[in-house]
Amino acid sequence: MSQPVHVTVTGAAGQIGYALLFRIASGQMLGADTPVRLRLLEIPQAVKAAEGTAMELDDCAFPTLDGVDIFDDARAAFDGTNVALLVGARPRTAGMERGDLLSANGGIFKPQGEAINAGAADDVRVLVVGNPANTNALIAQQHAPDVPADRFTAMTRLDHNRAVSQLATRTGARVADIARVTIWGNHSATQYPDLSHATVGGRPALEVVADDAWVTGTFIPTVAKRGAAIIEARGASSAASAANAAIDHVRSWVHGTPAGDWTSAGVVSDGSYGVPEGLISSFPVTSEGGAWRIVQGLEVDGSSRARIDASVAELVEERDAVRVLGLV
Ligand code: NAD
Ligand code: LMR
Repeated sequence: MSQPVHVTVTGAAGQIGYALLFRIASGQMLGADTPVRLRLLEIPQAVKAAEGTAMELDDCAFPTLDGVDIFDDARAAFDGTNVALLVGARPRTAGMERGDLLSANGGIFKPQGEAINAGAADDVRVLVVGNPANTNALIAQQHAPDVPADRFTAMTRLDHNRAVSQLATRTGARVADIARVTIWGNHSATQYPDLSHATVGGRPALEVVADDAWVTGTFIPTVAKRGAAIIEARGASSAASAANAAIDHVRSWVHGTPAGDWTSAGVVSDGSYGVPEGLISSFPVTSEGGAWRIVQGLEVDGSSRARIDASVAELVEERDAVRVLGLV
């Protein structure tokens, strides 16, 4: 076996952490031949719970797990790390305004960006899961000037998987027969789940569905508001499906996307499709040679344009709000 890949997970004692760590440790993220060293970052009050999870990880005797280290200090947790999964975030609580939420998260993602800049491995790849994921990723990225900007990403793979699943259910196709679904914009209710280039068994999805009212009246709002629907049903936000999406995101990033298909990820915009340069927005992406590439040349009709613009406008607003706070 090769040298262990160091994987830092923040918020390791939270619910996503619990659904995520065992899958990373068992090789589902990086492969059965790649040993991993887990580095768990928590706030001091949650370190004991993280220690309990580490005991359970030991008890699994995973052949791919090289060991587990627990930290309450970001600099130590990111030192030498190859993959950083930033899951821990400050949830919105009663009476909290949007500005308060952005400011509280700035207090987490600014120092974490600085710590990644200071000590992460040269090949570090960062996935931000903690909400508001796109803007948290932007804050971290802006505080890591020595790390190539394209190593910072935000998770919209869960939205992508939700869209694939809804389309498969509607058409009776298998998930494996669905390709080229896209999530554009923000990981929020303004996101645009786009079927205009999607295929079902090689046929245009919109032709197979043949029901515009379903696309605009059911599909798009169901995917965009799925996070809220899960919270309503479970009394807690999605955890296993979010962990699964994080695994999918990193696996695609490291091992590549299948020929003829793409996925969705929040990546730093290069100005493609009119999304302002530097924003971390979801795009259709492929991964080749360990790097994301935005799929180019897709036709964007008027209705798609308006939906992309609306979600990107929200990202601009969030960026402007954290700029006022001095966070970017
Ligand atoms: P949780 O509250 O169960 O766990 C969060 C953990 O983060 C807690 O253990 C907390 O102690 C820890 N934490 C807080 N601040 C920290 C810091 N500065 N450093 C390290 N750890 C810290 O929450 P969860 O259900 O695991 O969700 C985590 C985040 O993921 C939330 O922001 C949630 O909204 C978000 N989320 C995103 C997606 C997505 O698709 N992008 C999907 C689901 C959930
Ligand atoms: C989700 O999409 O399930 C979460 O981002 C919802 C949330 O607000 O935590």
